[in-house]
Amino acid sequence: MMHTRIEPATTSLMLAVEYLRAGELVAFPTETVYGLGGDARRDDVVRKIYAAKGRPGNNPVIVHVAEADDAKEYAEHWNGVAERLAKHFWPGPLTMILPRGQKLSAAVSAGRHTVAVRCPKHPVAEALLRAFGGPIAAPSANRSGFTSPTAASHVMAELAGRVPLILDGGPCRIGLESTVIDISSGDVPTVLRPGAVTLEMLREAIGDVQLSIRTVDNNEAAASPGMQDRHYAPRTPACRFNKSQWPAALAWAQQHQPVGLISCDDAVLLAAPHETVRMPEDEFEYARALYGALRELDEKGLKAILVLMPEKNEGVWVAVADRLRRATVELPAAEARR
Ligand code: TXA
Ligand code: MG
Repeated sequence: MMHTRIEPATTSLMLAVEYLRAGELVAFPTETVYGLGGDARRDDVVRKIYAAKGRPGNNPVIVHVAEADDAKEYAEHWNGVAERLAKHFWPGPLTMILPRGQKLSAAVSAGRHTVAVRCPKHPVAEALLRAFGGPIAAPSANRSGFTSPTAASHVMAELAGRVPLILDGGPCRIGLESTVIDISSGDVPTVLRPGAVTLEMLREAIGDVQLSIRTVDNNEAAASPGMQDRHYAPRTPACRFNKSQWPAALAWAQQHQPVGLISCDDAVLLAAPHETVRMPEDEFEYARALYGALRELDEKGLKAILVLMPEKNEGVWVAVADRLRRATVELPAAEARR
Protein backbone atom coordinates (compact mmCIF):
# COMPACT_ATOMS: atom_id res chain seq x y z
CA MET A 1 0.00 0.00 0.00
CA MET A 2 1.23 3.47 -0.87
CA HIS A 3 2.03 5.99 1.88
CA THR A 4 -0.29 9.02 2.00
CA ARG A 5 1.12 12.39 3.05
CA ILE A 6 -1.08 15.24 4.15
CA GLU A 7 0.62 18.61 3.73
CA PRO A 8 -0.38 22.27 4.09
CA ALA A 9 -1.34 23.64 0.68
CA THR A 10 0.61 26.83 1.41
CA THR A 11 3.98 25.08 1.56
CA SER A 12 3.47 22.04 -0.67
CA LEU A 13 1.88 23.42 -3.83
CA MET A 14 4.99 22.84 -5.96
CA LEU A 15 5.32 19.32 -4.60
CA ALA A 16 1.77 18.70 -5.80
CA VAL A 17 2.67 20.04 -9.24
CA GLU A 18 5.63 17.65 -9.38
CA TYR A 19 3.35 14.73 -8.58
CA LEU A 20 0.86 15.79 -11.25
CA ARG A 21 3.64 16.18 -13.84
CA ALA A 22 4.88 12.69 -12.95
CA GLY A 23 1.43 11.26 -13.64
CA GLU A 24 0.55 10.80 -9.97
CA LEU A 25 -2.68 11.79 -8.23
CA VAL A 26 -3.10 14.63 -5.74
CA ALA A 27 -6.12 15.40 -3.56
CA PHE A 28 -6.79 19.13 -3.29
CA PRO A 29 -9.41 21.52 -1.88
CA THR A 30 -12.00 23.38 -3.93
CA GLU A 31 -14.78 25.67 -2.72
CA THR A 32 -17.30 22.78 -3.02
CA VAL A 33 -15.60 19.56 -1.86
CA TYR A 34 -12.08 18.08 -2.07
CA GLY A 35 -11.15 16.60 -5.44
CA LEU A 36 -8.93 13.67 -6.42
CA GLY A 37 -6.92 15.20 -9.24
CA GLY A 38 -4.76 13.98 -12.10
CA ASP A 39 -3.67 15.07 -15.57
CA ALA A 40 -6.85 15.05 -17.67
CA ARG A 41 -4.85 14.54 -20.90
CA ARG A 42 -3.45 11.12 -19.88
CA ASP A 43 -5.50 7.91 -20.13
CA ASP A 44 -3.26 6.08 -17.66
CA VAL A 45 -3.70 8.83 -15.07
CA VAL A 46 -7.48 9.03 -15.47
CA ARG A 47 -7.61 5.24 -15.07
CA LYS A 48 -5.70 5.63 -11.78
CA ILE A 49 -8.43 8.01 -10.56
CA TYR A 50 -11.15 5.45 -11.27
CA ALA A 51 -9.12 2.73 -9.55
CA ALA A 52 -8.37 4.81 -6.42
CA LYS A 53 -12.05 5.64 -5.96
CA GLY A 54 -13.39 2.23 -6.98
CA ARG A 55 -15.54 4.21 -9.42
CA PRO A 56 -17.53 2.38 -12.10
CA GLY A 57 -15.95 2.99 -15.53
CA ASN A 58 -19.20 4.35 -16.98
CA ASN A 59 -19.38 7.39 -14.66
CA PRO A 60 -17.52 10.32 -16.29
CA VAL A 61 -15.35 12.77 -14.32
CA ILE A 62 -15.17 16.58 -14.23
CA VAL A 63 -12.22 18.38 -15.82
CA HIS A 64 -11.03 21.47 -13.93
CA VAL A 65 -9.54 24.44 -15.76
CA ALA A 66 -7.87 27.70 -14.67
CA GLU A 67 -10.04 29.91 -16.88
CA ALA A 68 -12.87 29.92 -19.39
CA ASP A 69 -10.46 30.16 -22.35
CA ASP A 70 -9.11 26.72 -21.42
CA ALA A 71 -12.63 25.29 -21.38
CA LYS A 72 -13.12 26.54 -24.95
CA GLU A 73 -10.07 24.56 -25.95
CA TYR A 74 -11.45 21.30 -24.57
CA ALA A 75 -14.98 21.64 -25.92
CA GLU A 76 -15.91 21.04 -29.54
CA HIS A 77 -18.33 23.97 -29.54
CA TRP A 78 -18.58 26.95 -27.24
CA ASN A 79 -21.83 28.84 -27.73
CA GLY A 80 -23.51 31.95 -26.34
CA VAL A 81 -25.06 30.05 -23.44
CA ALA A 82 -21.64 28.71 -22.37
CA GLU A 83 -20.22 32.21 -22.68
CA ARG A 84 -22.93 33.71 -20.45
CA LEU A 85 -22.64 30.94 -17.86
CA ALA A 86 -18.88 31.40 -17.70
CA LYS A 87 -19.25 35.18 -17.36
CA HIS A 88 -21.79 34.86 -14.53
CA PHE A 89 -20.55 31.89 -12.56
CA TRP A 90 -16.87 31.15 -13.25
CA PRO A 91 -14.75 30.79 -11.32
CA GLY A 92 -17.35 29.08 -9.15
CA PRO A 93 -19.41 26.01 -8.27
CA LEU A 94 -20.86 25.34 -11.74
CA THR A 95 -19.96 22.45 -14.06
CA MET A 96 -20.96 22.63 -17.73
CA ILE A 97 -21.51 19.54 -19.88
CA LEU A 98 -20.19 20.43 -23.34
CA PRO A 99 -19.54 18.53 -26.58
CA ARG A 100 -16.17 16.85 -26.13
CA GLY A 101 -13.10 18.14 -27.97
CA GLN A 102 -10.08 15.96 -28.82
CA LYS A 103 -7.41 17.29 -26.45
CA LEU A 104 -8.43 15.40 -23.31
CA SER A 105 -8.15 11.74 -22.43
CA ALA A 106 -11.30 10.02 -23.72
CA ALA A 107 -11.46 8.31 -20.31
CA VAL A 108 -12.77 11.49 -18.64
CA SER A 109 -15.93 11.16 -20.76
CA ALA A 110 -16.44 7.45 -20.03
CA GLY A 111 -17.57 6.73 -23.57
CA ARG A 112 -19.79 9.79 -24.03
CA HIS A 113 -19.57 12.53 -26.65
CA THR A 114 -19.55 15.15 -23.93
CA VAL A 115 -17.18 16.45 -21.28
CA ALA A 116 -17.87 18.09 -17.92
CA VAL A 117 -15.79 21.24 -17.32
CA ARG A 118 -15.51 23.43 -14.23
CA CYS A 119 -13.41 26.44 -13.28
CA PRO A 120 -13.21 26.34 -9.45
CA LYS A 121 -13.03 29.33 -7.13
CA HIS A 122 -10.59 28.41 -4.42
CA PRO A 123 -7.11 29.91 -3.94
CA VAL A 124 -5.42 26.50 -3.73
CA ALA A 125 -7.30 24.96 -6.68
CA GLU A 126 -6.64 28.06 -8.77
CA ALA A 127 -2.95 28.20 -7.87
CA LEU A 128 -2.56 24.47 -8.56
CA LEU A 129 -4.21 24.73 -11.99
CA ARG A 130 -2.05 27.73 -12.95
CA ALA A 131 1.21 26.19 -11.73
CA PHE A 132 0.46 22.83 -13.36
CA GLY A 133 -0.53 24.57 -16.56
CA GLY A 134 -2.97 21.91 -17.75
CA PRO A 135 -6.44 20.48 -17.19
CA ILE A 136 -7.00 18.46 -13.98
CA ALA A 137 -9.56 15.66 -13.95
CA ALA A 138 -11.02 15.51 -10.44
CA PRO A 139 -14.01 13.69 -9.05
CA SER A 140 -14.80 14.17 -5.38
CA ALA A 141 -12.03 12.58 -3.26
CA ASN A 142 -14.12 9.82 -1.67
CA ARG A 143 -14.56 6.11 -2.30
CA SER A 144 -17.27 5.67 -4.90
CA GLY A 145 -20.80 5.98 -3.48
CA PHE A 146 -19.81 7.49 -0.13
CA THR A 147 -19.97 10.99 1.31
CA SER A 148 -17.82 13.65 -0.37
CA PRO A 149 -14.95 15.08 1.73
CA THR A 150 -15.17 18.69 2.90
CA ALA A 151 -11.92 18.63 4.92
CA ALA A 152 -8.46 17.12 4.38
CA SER A 153 -9.01 14.69 7.27
CA HIS A 154 -12.09 13.34 5.44
CA VAL A 155 -9.93 12.63 2.38
CA MET A 156 -7.45 10.79 4.59
CA ALA A 157 -10.27 8.68 6.02
CA GLU A 158 -11.46 7.80 2.50
CA LEU A 159 -8.27 7.44 0.47
CA ALA A 160 -5.32 6.65 2.79
CA GLY A 161 -3.00 4.32 0.87
CA ARG A 162 -4.63 5.26 -2.46
CA VAL A 163 -3.21 8.72 -3.10
CA PRO A 164 0.34 9.89 -2.35
CA LEU A 165 -0.45 13.50 -1.42
CA ILE A 166 -3.37 15.40 0.12
CA LEU A 167 -3.09 19.20 0.04
CA ASP A 168 -4.74 20.58 3.16
CA GLY A 169 -6.51 23.87 2.47
CA GLY A 170 -8.91 23.80 5.41
CA PRO A 171 -12.66 23.21 5.31
CA CYS A 172 -14.62 23.77 2.07
CA ARG A 173 -16.70 26.97 1.99
CA ILE A 174 -19.72 25.52 0.13
CA GLY A 175 -19.65 21.90 1.23
CA LEU A 176 -21.83 20.41 -1.55
CA GLU A 177 -20.68 19.36 -5.03
CA SER A 178 -21.02 21.83 -7.92
CA THR A 179 -24.20 22.37 -9.89
CA VAL A 180 -23.98 20.31 -13.11
CA ILE A 181 -25.77 21.79 -16.14
CA ASP A 182 -25.99 20.06 -19.52
CA ILE A 183 -25.77 22.50 -22.44
CA SER A 184 -24.30 20.01 -24.90
CA SER A 185 -27.38 19.71 -27.10
CA GLY A 186 -29.69 22.30 -28.61
CA ASP A 187 -32.35 21.48 -25.99
CA VAL A 188 -33.32 23.51 -22.97
CA PRO A 189 -30.29 23.61 -20.61
CA THR A 190 -30.80 20.90 -18.01
CA VAL A 191 -29.52 20.77 -14.46
CA LEU A 192 -28.45 17.19 -13.74
CA ARG A 193 -27.20 17.90 -10.22
CA PRO A 194 -28.41 20.92 -8.21
CA GLY A 195 -25.86 22.90 -6.21
CA ALA A 196 -24.95 26.32 -4.85
CA VAL A 197 -25.50 27.92 -8.26
CA THR A 198 -29.27 27.63 -7.96
CA LEU A 199 -31.98 27.21 -10.59
CA GLU A 200 -33.14 30.73 -9.81
CA MET A 201 -29.66 32.11 -10.50
CA LEU A 202 -29.31 30.11 -13.72
CA ARG A 203 -32.71 31.23 -15.03
CA GLU A 204 -31.84 34.83 -14.37
CA ALA A 205 -28.60 34.42 -16.34
CA ILE A 206 -29.74 32.33 -19.34
CA GLY A 207 -33.54 32.06 -19.29
CA ASP A 208 -35.27 28.70 -19.54
CA VAL A 209 -33.59 25.93 -17.50
CA GLN A 210 -35.05 22.57 -16.52
CA LEU A 211 -34.21 20.29 -13.63
CA SER A 212 -33.80 16.58 -14.31
CA ILE A 213 -32.55 14.67 -11.30
CA ARG A 214 -32.10 10.97 -11.92
CA THR A 215 -33.80 9.31 -8.97
CA VAL A 216 -33.55 5.59 -8.67
CA ASP A 217 -35.13 5.26 -5.26
CA ASN A 218 -32.88 3.39 -2.86
CA ASN A 219 -35.77 1.40 -1.42
CA GLU A 220 -36.70 0.16 -4.85
CA ALA A 221 -33.15 -0.49 -5.99
CA ALA A 222 -32.36 -2.48 -2.84
CA ALA A 223 -34.60 -5.21 -4.28
CA SER A 224 -31.96 -6.01 -6.89
CA PRO A 225 -28.51 -6.33 -5.28
CA GLY A 226 -25.74 -4.62 -7.20
CA MET A 227 -28.18 -2.18 -8.77
CA GLN A 228 -28.39 0.11 -5.81
CA ASP A 229 -27.97 3.74 -6.82
CA ARG A 230 -26.41 4.69 -3.52
CA HIS A 231 -24.67 8.03 -3.45
CA TYR A 232 -23.25 10.53 -1.01
CA ALA A 233 -24.07 7.99 1.69
CA PRO A 234 -22.65 7.29 5.13
CA ARG A 235 -21.72 3.68 6.00
CA THR A 236 -24.29 3.55 8.82
CA PRO A 237 -27.83 2.82 7.53
CA ALA A 238 -29.59 6.18 7.20
CA CYS A 239 -33.33 6.96 7.00
CA ARG A 240 -35.07 10.22 6.18
CA PHE A 241 -38.40 11.47 7.51
CA ASN A 242 -40.62 14.55 7.35
CA LYS A 243 -41.67 16.49 10.40
CA SER A 244 -45.16 14.94 10.27
CA GLN A 245 -43.50 11.52 10.70
CA TRP A 246 -41.66 12.52 13.88
CA PRO A 247 -43.76 10.32 16.20
CA ALA A 248 -43.01 7.30 14.00
CA ALA A 249 -39.32 8.23 13.78
CA LEU A 250 -39.19 8.56 17.56
CA ALA A 251 -40.71 5.10 18.00
CA TRP A 252 -38.26 3.72 15.46
CA ALA A 253 -35.33 5.32 17.30
CA GLN A 254 -36.39 3.65 20.56
CA GLN A 255 -36.37 0.27 18.82
CA HIS A 256 -32.98 0.78 17.19
CA GLN A 257 -31.04 2.67 19.83
CA PRO A 258 -28.69 4.32 19.86
CA VAL A 259 -29.28 6.33 16.69
CA GLY A 260 -27.89 9.59 15.37
CA LEU A 261 -30.27 12.38 14.42
CA ILE A 262 -29.67 15.24 12.00
CA SER A 263 -32.23 17.94 12.69
CA CYS A 264 -32.84 21.57 11.84
CA ASP A 265 -35.82 21.96 14.19
CA ASP A 266 -35.83 22.43 17.97
CA ALA A 267 -39.04 20.37 18.21
CA VAL A 268 -37.18 17.37 16.75
CA LEU A 269 -34.36 16.41 19.12
CA LEU A 270 -33.27 13.18 20.83
CA ALA A 271 -31.65 12.82 24.26
CA ALA A 272 -28.87 10.37 25.24
CA PRO A 273 -28.06 7.60 24.47
CA HIS A 274 -28.91 9.00 21.06
CA GLU A 275 -26.76 11.65 19.37
CA THR A 276 -28.36 14.74 17.84
CA VAL A 277 -26.63 17.14 15.49
CA ARG A 278 -28.58 20.41 15.44
CA MET A 279 -28.08 21.85 11.95
CA PRO A 280 -28.01 25.57 11.06
CA GLU A 281 -31.18 27.18 9.69
CA ASP A 282 -29.40 29.15 6.95
CA GLU A 283 -29.26 27.24 3.64
CA PHE A 284 -25.56 27.94 2.99
CA GLU A 285 -24.54 27.07 6.54
CA TYR A 286 -26.63 23.89 6.45
CA ALA A 287 -24.96 22.84 3.19
CA ARG A 288 -21.50 23.60 4.56
CA ALA A 289 -22.10 21.52 7.70
CA LEU A 290 -23.95 18.56 6.18
CA TYR A 291 -21.21 16.15 5.10
CA GLY A 292 -19.20 16.76 8.27
CA ALA A 293 -22.30 15.97 10.35
CA LEU A 294 -22.97 12.73 8.44
CA ARG A 295 -19.34 11.72 8.84
CA GLU A 296 -19.28 12.59 12.55
CA LEU A 297 -22.33 10.42 13.23
CA ASP A 298 -21.00 7.68 10.97
CA GLU A 299 -17.90 7.34 13.16
CA LYS A 300 -19.85 6.76 16.37
CA GLY A 301 -20.86 3.15 15.79
CA LEU A 302 -24.58 3.96 15.97
CA LYS A 303 -27.31 1.56 14.84
CA ALA A 304 -28.73 4.05 12.35
CA ILE A 305 -28.86 7.70 11.35
CA LEU A 306 -32.17 9.55 11.11
CA VAL A 307 -32.42 12.70 9.02
CA LEU A 308 -35.22 15.24 9.33
CA MET A 309 -35.85 16.59 5.80
CA PRO A 310 -35.80 20.41 5.76
CA GLU A 311 -39.16 21.81 4.68
CA LYS A 312 -37.98 24.58 2.35
CA ASN A 313 -37.60 23.82 -1.31
CA GLU A 314 -35.93 26.70 -3.09
CA GLY A 315 -32.39 27.99 -3.55
CA VAL A 316 -29.68 25.77 -2.09
CA TRP A 317 -32.32 23.69 -0.25
CA VAL A 318 -32.98 21.93 -3.59
CA ALA A 319 -29.37 20.66 -3.56
CA VAL A 320 -29.50 19.80 0.15
CA ALA A 321 -32.69 17.75 -0.34
CA ASP A 322 -31.20 16.00 -3.37
CA ARG A 323 -28.11 14.87 -1.42
CA LEU A 324 -30.18 13.84 1.59
CA ARG A 325 -32.46 11.71 -0.59
CA ARG A 326 -29.46 9.97 -2.12
CA ALA A 327 -27.75 9.42 1.24
CA THR A 328 -30.82 7.84 2.89
CA VAL A 329 -33.81 5.55 2.40
CA GLU A 330 -37.32 6.46 3.52
CA LEU A 331 -38.23 5.57 7.07
CA PRO A 332 -39.57 1.98 6.74
CA ALA A 333 -43.25 2.15 5.76
CA ALA A 334 -44.61 0.00 8.62
CA GLU A 335 -43.18 2.43 11.16
CA ALA A 336 -44.16 5.48 9.13
CA ARG A 337 -47.84 4.39 9.10
CA ARG A 338 -48.17 3.98 12.86
O1 TXA B 1 -17.91 20.17 -6.92
C1 TXA B 1 -17.57 19.29 -7.71
O2 TXA B 1 -18.09 19.17 -8.82
C2 TXA B 1 -16.46 18.34 -7.26
C3 TXA B 1 -15.16 19.12 -7.14
C4 TXA B 1 -13.97 18.24 -6.85
O3 TXA B 1 -14.97 19.89 -8.29
N1 TXA B 1 -16.34 17.24 -8.17
C5 TXA B 1 -17.29 16.28 -8.25
O4 TXA B 1 -17.02 15.28 -9.18
O5 TXA B 1 -18.30 16.27 -7.59
P1 TXA B 1 -17.76 13.88 -9.20
O6 TXA B 1 -17.04 13.07 -10.22
O7 TXA B 1 -17.84 13.31 -7.86
O8 TXA B 1 -19.17 14.22 -9.77
C6 TXA B 1 -19.30 14.56 -11.14
C7 TXA B 1 -20.72 14.40 -11.57
C8 TXA B 1 -21.12 12.95 -11.60
O9 TXA B 1 -22.46 12.85 -11.19
C9 TXA B 1 -20.98 12.60 -13.09
O10 TXA B 1 -21.85 11.56 -13.46
C10 TXA B 1 -21.34 13.91 -13.75
O11 TXA B 1 -20.84 14.92 -12.91
N2 TXA B 1 -20.70 14.02 -15.07
C11 TXA B 1 -19.40 14.14 -15.33
N3 TXA B 1 -19.17 14.18 -16.67
C12 TXA B 1 -20.38 14.09 -17.25
C13 TXA B 1 -20.84 14.05 -18.60
N4 TXA B 1 -19.99 14.14 -19.62
N5 TXA B 1 -22.17 13.95 -18.83
C14 TXA B 1 -23.04 13.87 -17.79
N6 TXA B 1 -22.67 13.88 -16.49
C15 TXA B 1 -21.37 13.99 -16.22
MG1 MG C 1 -18.59 12.37 -6.27
